[in-house]
Amino acid sequence: MSAAPIKIAIRGLTKSFGEKHILRALDLDVRAGESLVVIGASGTGKSVLLKNIVGILTPDSGSIKIDGEEVVGVTGHARDRVNRKLGMLFQGAALFDSLPLWENVAFSLMSAHRIGRPEARKVAMECLKQVGLQKENAERFPADISVGAQKRVGLARAIASGPEILFFDEPTTGIDPVMGDVIDGLIVKCVKELGATALTITHDMESARRIGDRVAMIYEGKIVWVGDVDRIDSSDNEYVDQFINGSIDGPMSALIAGNEGR
Ligand SMILES: Nc1ncnc2c1ncn2[C@@H]1O[C@H](COP(=O)(O)OP(=O)(O)O)[C@@H](O)[C@H]1O
Ligand SMILES: [Mg+2]
Repeated sequence: MSAAPIKIAIRGLTKSFGEKHILRALDLDVRAGESLVVIGASGTGKSVLLKNIVGILTPDSGSIKIDGEEVVGVTGHARDRVNRKLGMLFQGAALFDSLPLWENVAFSLMSAHRIGRPEARKVAMECLKQVGLQKENAERFPADISVGAQKRVGLARAIASGPEILFFDEPTTGIDPVMGDVIDGLIVKCVKELGATALTITHDMESARRIGDRVAMIYEGKIVWVGDVDRIDSSDNEYVDQFINGSIDGPMSALIAGNEGR
């Protein structure tokens, strides 16, 4: 067993929207320096989980500790201080349409980290280079580049402040398999170079295998299995088996039949 300390400790995390009970007393530990991937079918609450961790959503109950510090219910300056440790690549990249690419990357450096514009630009250019975008692209706008290139810019933005923890929400969704492979490779490279802890959520099993040191599976608001990525094919877990084989028959048939609105 690894002796790495726990970077993110989640206990009893519960979140509902009206009658829809999405997270149901979910427990999960992310160890310092590891790349953990949470897999699960669409609509099972993966994005809701991430949004609770980064403070976009507030849980109904439960605890989330980052470096041993409770973050549930923490707001204002204290929350900003926590968030400066975090970098995130949103599903669909979520770039600012009206800003050139370099400024998208530099945005939080200038706002949250109070770094001056020339210095922030320098860092942004370096990050764009790290994700394989030449400096000629820096003044272009998100609408002028491909979805794959937008993901690269989103990744450059996530790493720009040198965060301790990186979150990736469906990094390969909406791009072709070849570009998915490239993005996964960049994610692995960037996480390693930063020495960061990474938490990725995806329904793309191939991507999970490329990115993850460990894999956790979410189903009905709980983590139903967690293990090293090389154990995924011999997990002896019926949920994991059904998910990785994409089969209709198994414990999750109700979900596959479209009966996810509970
Ligand atoms: N802000 C919200 N208000 C109401 N329902 C939501 C909200 N965000 C997510 N949901 C619902 O929660 C469920 C899980 O969503 P999500 O976490 O986005 O799934 P996924 O695992 O695909 O990322 C879905 O049924 C979704 O409709
Ligand atoms: Mg999602």
